[in-house]
Amino acid sequence: MSNNITQSDLDCVIQFLGTNPILTQSSNVKAFEEEWSGWLGVKYSVMVNSGSSANQATMGLLRELRGSGEVITPTLTWVSDVASVIQNGFTPVFVDIDQRTLGMDTAQVIAKLNERTKAVFITHILGYNALDQKLIDECKKCKIPIIEDVCESHGATFAGKKLGAHGWISNFSFYYAHHLSTIEGGMICTDDAEVYEAARLFRAHGMVRESSSPELKERYRKEYPDLNPDFIFAYPAYNFRSTEINAVMGRSQLKRLDANNDKRRKNLTVFLKNLNSEKFYTEFAQEGSSNYALTLVLRHPDEALRDRIETELRSRKIEFRRGTSGGGNQTRQPYIRKRYPEIDPRSFSRVDHVHFFGWYIGNYPDLEEGHVLQLCALLNSIAANQAHPRFGLSF
Ligand SMILES: Cc1ncc(COP(=O)(O)O)c(C=O)c1O
Repeated sequence: MSNNITQSDLDCVIQFLGTNPILTQSSNVKAFEEEWSGWLGVKYSVMVNSGSSANQATMGLLRELRGSGEVITPTLTWVSDVASVIQNGFTPVFVDIDQRTLGMDTAQVIAKLNERTKAVFITHILGYNALDQKLIDECKKCKIPIIEDVCESHGATFAGKKLGAHGWISNFSFYYAHHLSTIEGGMICTDDAEVYEAARLFRAHGMVRESSSPELKERYRKEYPDLNPDFIFAYPAYNFRSTEINAVMGRSQLKRLDANNDKRRKNLTVFLKNLNSEKFYTEFAQEGSSNYALTLVLRHPDEALRDRIETELRSRKIEFRRGTSGGGNQTRQPYIRKRYPEIDPRSFSRVDHVHFFGWYIGNYPDLEEGHVLQLCALLNSIAANQAHPRFGLSF
């Protein structure tokens, strides 16, 4: 991966600091939220200090607004998606992946919907869209909200509309090397005014004074006349506020997000087109995708080839992550095994294949096409068990 924070972003921060500004959440956070909502195509956004905080607040407000129950949860995702489900008292109901999108398999999700289901919490993996119309229609029919984790997929689309603008709520991360980086940061987005107010409260200790709604404040004031109106805590919540510095950086980066995403997309297309498709899986659903990192998955289980690839990549200092997003099959992780010993990780065979025979490799706007082609040549030669091309990859 490479640092996506440029000198111009740093200059914006330096200029901002020179004005003796308020440093904690203030006008830049508000401005970034409005600009982000405009870019995404939603009514409301609430900036928080990480994507994990966005996950945690979202599951917290789901519990407060809709009560406890089951949440359909991916087996391939980041740990905070599953952790937030568990920590808020929901039962995670795991499903396997669709190998073309690495997102949840729609048929399996639909088969698991029932009267206890409170939400379908999908993750769009590494820039691939995990939504389809059947899933949207079925959830609508059952009145079950879809919550989108778009932390790895800024700018990807489904049916011409950005991911994160389809579901009831969506979460973004602005961590290092993501499509847009604010150093650390995240966003909760929605068209629902009730969710927006709840998210504002969840970000700041559950305090009612953080609401933007005079009616909501008045309602609490009347209902709790024994409390100081400045300190009414509606929810057992958190301090997930962002600083202004992160928001200044986000505003600077947003200006080049679309151009950066075009370069990321192009790199993925070159990568998948030039890999040996007999050895590597190349039929990923690229339509509408906005690549975060290059997806490399062996077509067939082959431990010897896997080990050769890792040895070669390591020796050439090419960064990779086995298991792709979040280290692979989450049901193999100790935090799940200890809690749910009855879940057999092997019953999710597609995610298990990615767990053992899949990786992601860094992609970033400055990555040149020539380097992507060299990488493909190297991987193809390793797969063919030939002498490897002698070149130095300077990623
Ligand atoms: C799918 C997904 N969800 C949530 C997160 C958490 O975001 P953060 O690192 O900002 O806490 C990540 C992090 O990369 C992620 O990939």
